[in-house]
Amino acid sequence: VSKTPDLRAAAARLTPFTYVGAQSAPGWSFTGGFPDPAHFPFEELLACLSDAALEDPGVLQYGGPVDETLRYGESTLRAELLHRLGDDLGPSADLANVMLTTGSIGAIELAFRAFLDPGDVVALESPTWPAAIVMARQLRAKLVTVPVDRDGLSVDQLAEVVASLDAQGNPVKLVYTIPTFQTPTGSVLHPARRARLAALAAEYNFLVLEDGTYAALRYDGDPVASVQSYDAGGRVLRVGSFSKTVAPALRIGWAAGDARLLETLASARTDLGVSHWAARALALFLRAGHYDRHLDRMLAAYRHKRDLLHAALVRECAGLADWELPAGGYFFWLRLRELVDAGAATQLAADDGIACRPGEQFFGLPAEGAQLLRIAFSQIAEDRIDEGIAVLGRALRASSRKAQA
Ligand SMILES: Cc1ncc(COP(=O)(O)O)c(C=O)c1O
Repeated sequence: VSKTPDLRAAAARLTPFTYVGAQSAPGWSFTGGFPDPAHFPFEELLACLSDAALEDPGVLQYGGPVDETLRYGESTLRAELLHRLGDDLGPSADLANVMLTTGSIGAIELAFRAFLDPGDVVALESPTWPAAIVMARQLRAKLVTVPVDRDGLSVDQLAEVVASLDAQGNPVKLVYTIPTFQTPTGSVLHPARRARLAALAAEYNFLVLEDGTYAALRYDGDPVASVQSYDAGGRVLRVGSFSKTVAPALRIGWAAGDARLLETLASARTDLGVSHWAARALALFLRAGHYDRHLDRMLAAYRHKRDLLHAALVRECAGLADWELPAGGYFFWLRLRELVDAGAATQLAADDGIACRPGEQFFGLPAEGAQLLRIAFSQIAEDRIDEGIAVLGRALRASSRKAQA
């Protein structure tokens, strides 16, 4: 009897990438990191798309191999980015320090592929963005995790891990961090820790992959300098995205750093780049001032939604859960108190139409994160927040051990 062979590679069998949390039409969507569809800048984007194509029909082409736009991306957008990334790349930075990618996920995946061989050690924050865990596993990297607290990644604990693995001859090769409005915790890495992380990278010769996907979405307080700004040795690769600020469908993100790091990315790249048309349109969007005006509007809208959600949590979930008010990003990270049976609560909330992300998804190990929930305030319509959080609060109360006793 012939057995039908499984055509999938072992990596795809063992670590499938499923987009967790994308449920069909939930009543209240507090799930993925999706921007608010009510605020997409349609008119300006459409005008920029049409201007880009009318001014230069060549934007419908692949990039060129000679001017490196095929591997590095459309150059007017890279020039805009270079200008906006400011001094972090050093005074002599030029277009060789910026590359466009398919969202920031494209940059992260490319960096993982370009810098990690099977068995190499990659350090991830715990908890972290689930896609990073999947990517590291698919590459057969060896994962170590380092906790995140209110001030972001515990760089003290990272230093211990790095030193001990180095002594064992199995050094950490790459540290993936989301220092600003970390996913899922919302924490911001303290400046002193940023400086120390860059210094550790130099001392132990590892690469820091700094994910700044949410960094522009700050609602309170002053911006914090990037980890990259503390790096003198070209060991920090910073990635970012226009998905959360403008529109994910553009699929435009970027990687910025030392030209040698980007050369390595370019040499591993096999996707023929990102849409020149979308990139040129986005460059026009930035140059015309649409981006800055749009971002100001978005910051006001998200700040308001965050505050509505916080007020609703105080009303509905006080005594059942604890959380910090996030200073930016899209998420609240709820720690359910021990008296709440988290499994029962999330099931009940889901049955009543609440979509949010169970904490387990953000840890490499399923046993962790059981009392945690990530609640996104970005996507849900403003006038649905109170009702949704009331439904969640009812589920938590009904699942508290007191209620069940
Ligand atoms: C932490 C983090 N990094 C990167 C990404 C990728 O975003 P994109 O590829 O759309 O830029 C996401 C998207 O949810 C994210 O949450």
